[in-house]
Amino acid sequence: MKKPQDNTPDRLISPIERQGDDTLDLSLRPKTLGEYIGQERIKANLNITITAAKKREEPIEHVLLYGAPGLGKTTLAHVIANEIGANIRVTSGPAIEKSGDLAAILTNLEKGDILFIDEIHRLNKTVEEILYPAMEDYALDIIMGKGPTARTLRLDLPRFTIIGATTMASLLSAPLRDRFGITHHLNFYEIADIEKIIKRSAGILNIKIDATASEAIASRSRRTPRIANRLLKRVRDYCEVKGDGQITLADCLAAFKLLEVDELGLDLIDRRILETIVHKFKGGPVGLNTLAAATGEDMDTIENVYEPYLMQLGFLDRSPRGRMVTHLGYEHLGLRMPGTGSLV
Ligand SMILES: Nc1ncnc2c1ncn2[C@@H]1O[C@H](COP(=O)(O)OP(=O)(O)OP(=O)(O)O)[C@@H](O)[C@H]1O
Ligand SMILES: [Mg+2]
Repeated sequence: MKKPQDNTPDRLISPIERQGDDTLDLSLRPKTLGEYIGQERIKANLNITITAAKKREEPIEHVLLYGAPGLGKTTLAHVIANEIGANIRVTSGPAIEKSGDLAAILTNLEKGDILFIDEIHRLNKTVEEILYPAMEDYALDIIMGKGPTARTLRLDLPRFTIIGATTMASLLSAPLRDRFGITHHLNFYEIADIEKIIKRSAGILNIKIDATASEAIASRSRRTPRIANRLLKRVRDYCEVKGDGQITLADCLAAFKLLEVDELGLDLIDRRILETIVHKFKGGPVGLNTLAAATGEDMDTIENVYEPYLMQLGFLDRSPRGRMVTHLGYEHLGLRMPGTGSLV
């Protein structure tokens, strides 16, 4: 399966990387564990791993990072390389088409190098099989010839580290998953950490922002750093046109009204999905394909892009019979859930 695609490229609060994010991302990307905000447990563990490996002068074990888009997997891979002082080579599952492509990458690695494989769940089977001995024994098996006379030639590789990143750990085959000595699951951030990220980004971008304004951005950022940075940038644009340069709470509220992002970071499409279930299907359950047809959105996009956050907020339930809006979802829309008697 593919990485979730964003079929709505204009969508401001999408966690998926969009055009224009990359230059912003680069300047805002933390470079050390100290600068990397939140994910405290992961940082503490990585700190031990890195310090121990440095002491032993050995490369660290292979690391698998998984979590939703925009939570900082790529950033963390670069932070790890930087903290170790290792070179990092960057590739991705779909970029490695043939086993020969991977062999070329592996034979060019030097001792201690880090190979970052983004979207590692998209590696194809034959490529993946080359990776097994490479990860386990630092060896590359090359098959010479065909049929009964075929022979395997084993090439030694330098000790290196693979850091794999994926948004869909469940799609990783068990043998591949097992070859990672270290696995970390990145969670959505605490709002307080998102606020810190916004303040840090504002500092780097030379933006003056009130504390109440960064709070307002944080609460709309879906607990995702990429969205927080993007919203900050959009609010700054708004203030440059309308304001005096200092971002205030009033600026933020006016900007978000114009951008149609509500106080929990839901946009028009999120609300349309909830409203469609409520008004056309009596709150559900409704099947995914019916919902897709009724809202005019793609099934994949609904499932991978919209639903996760709505479910995380407790506004939507997935059951075997279909999708249902919860009483919290009704409440957010300012509606009463049938049969509950009250507004809640
Ligand atoms: N812990 C953090 N502290 C500060 N900023 C962060 C942190 N994590 C991520 N960011 C910011 O969010 C941006 C997006 O992060 P990143 O590209 O690493 O996400 P990702 O998990 O790799 O996303 P994808 O799944 O789309 O590849 C980064 O450029 C960085 O500016
Ligand atoms: Mg990434």
